[in-house]
Amino acid sequence: MAEDLSIQTMISLVKQGKVPQHVAIIMDGNGRWARMRGLARTVGHKYGVEKLRDLLTVCKAIGIKYVTVYAFSTENWSRPKEEVETLMKLIVEFINKEIDNIKNEGARVHVLGDWSVLPTASRDAVAYAIDHTKDNTELHLNVALNYGGRAELVKAFKDMAAKVVAGELAIDDITESVIAEHLYTAGMPDPDLVIRTAGEMRLSNFLPYQSAYAELWISPANVFWPDFGKDVFLKAIMDYQKRDRRFGGLSSK
Ligand code: FPP
Repeated sequence: MAEDLSIQTMISLVKQGKVPQHVAIIMDGNGRWARMRGLARTVGHKYGVEKLRDLLTVCKAIGIKYVTVYAFSTENWSRPKEEVETLMKLIVEFINKEIDNIKNEGARVHVLGDWSVLPTASRDAVAYAIDHTKDNTELHLNVALNYGGRAELVKAFKDMAAKVVAGELAIDDITESVIAEHLYTAGMPDPDLVIRTAGEMRLSNFLPYQSAYAELWISPANVFWPDFGKDVFLKAIMDYQKRDRRFGGLSSK
């Protein structure tokens, strides 16, 4: 009860400030969280998935419109087969368990990345999640799956080159916003804030084009993704609200 009260207080405080439109999250440290408890890495991922519900609840409560989570990168295929299989199964379990809640929260699911190569069961679940929530507009949940920022740029450049060859796009018409319209995030605002848990100070190929001016918030090294509760998220937003975003210009202070 006491915790709920303090969360409510934090939510009220955050709502008085500037709320980011788009928050992107690198959910790191599942393996370390599990190892510290003598558990298999895959158990860390299972606990990690559980944190997504709280995340959506807070986003909705404070009015964040877009939240992007890095669930599986193009590089993650190189992990042990059993771990990859568990992650693929977790996608299915997560959707089966949470899709009604996601829908009722008014959230629409999008996938960033080439999900056509996922195992059939994961692909079917993803297709269902996208279709089942397609009429929602209140909150957008982007799940980055088989996503890599460089691969995304390669795809965008190929798509634009094909249009140039077909005479549908002039080279001089390629602008920053035209490039943005060829990314998986077409039509969405850039992330205002990128959060990474577990203390690592890098972007790991996550939204490199879109995050050019994002604020970064890295949790302490002992806060792993399965530890990421509402309080930690709200603390990150509060810290963001103290930042002076200059976009290359002068301070507004
Ligand atoms: C990083 O921890 C986490 C991942 C590579 C996967 C994140 C995935 C989930 C939380 C579950 C799947 C998500 C959905 C939406 C179903 P790590 O394994 O790199 O941890 P470590 O750095 O401590 O080893």
